Amino acid sequence: MILSPVHHISNIGLCLLPSPKEMMEMDSLCFNSHWNEQDYLEMQYQPSFHNWLLVIPDVCPVGMLAFQAIPPELEILRMAIHPEWRKRGLAELMLEQLEILTKSDKIESHWLEVHVANKSATSLYRKLGYKEIGSRRNYFRNPLGDALLYKKIVKENAS
Ligand SMILES: CC(C)(COP(=O)(O)OP(=O)(O)OC[C@H]1O[C@@H](n2cnc3c(N)ncnc32)[C@H](O)[C@@H]1OP(=O)(O)O)[C@@H](O)C(=O)NCCC(=O)NCCS
Repeated sequence: MILSPVHHISNIGLCLLPSPKEMMEMDSLCFNSHWNEQDYLEMQYQPSFHNWLLVIPDVCPVGMLAFQAIPPELEILRMAIHPEWRKRGLAELMLEQLEILTKSDKIESHWLEVHVANKSATSLYRKLGYKEIGSRRNYFRNPLGDALLYKKIVKENAS
């Protein structure tokens, strides 16, 4: 259980082994174009992929994270907060926990691709110290748009 200092939520937990169905259900609440249960099932067969749910006990899952860790890099593949629980610092909390909990795994940098028009996400990543390192033209299809590549060095002496 993580103790959360944010917005009057007295305790909050991370479920590190959610089922593919739980991930799909959270995904479908958060994204217009969602990943299905089979996508998560296939991901969970591979040891480098990780699925986490952010959970408020006795309430509901409030966030989700899917990432791939192949040291020294960690790629964030999917990250969202339940629409009714946004703007309370939960995404920030979840990404801070990601850094803390993967620190001992020889991870030196985190990176991700984000839609250029996704202002809430780009603002979040910039706030947390991610730097824009490039872009991919028309990378996203739904809606069509460029991807921005963001990277954060999480371990000193890494470049
Ligand atoms: C992006 C997302 C995860 C943010 O979650 P959240 O819990 O609301 O974010 P937080 O409350 O932790 O906000 C932290 C920072 O993110 C940025 N941010 C979050 N929501 C924002 C918004 N609607 N507009 C502008 N900036 C926003 C701000 O910098 C904020 O810091 P501040 O409160 O000091 O201004 C959430 O909006 C979401 O799930 N979106 C849909 C899925 C998605 O786009 N995922 C990212 C794919 S890469």
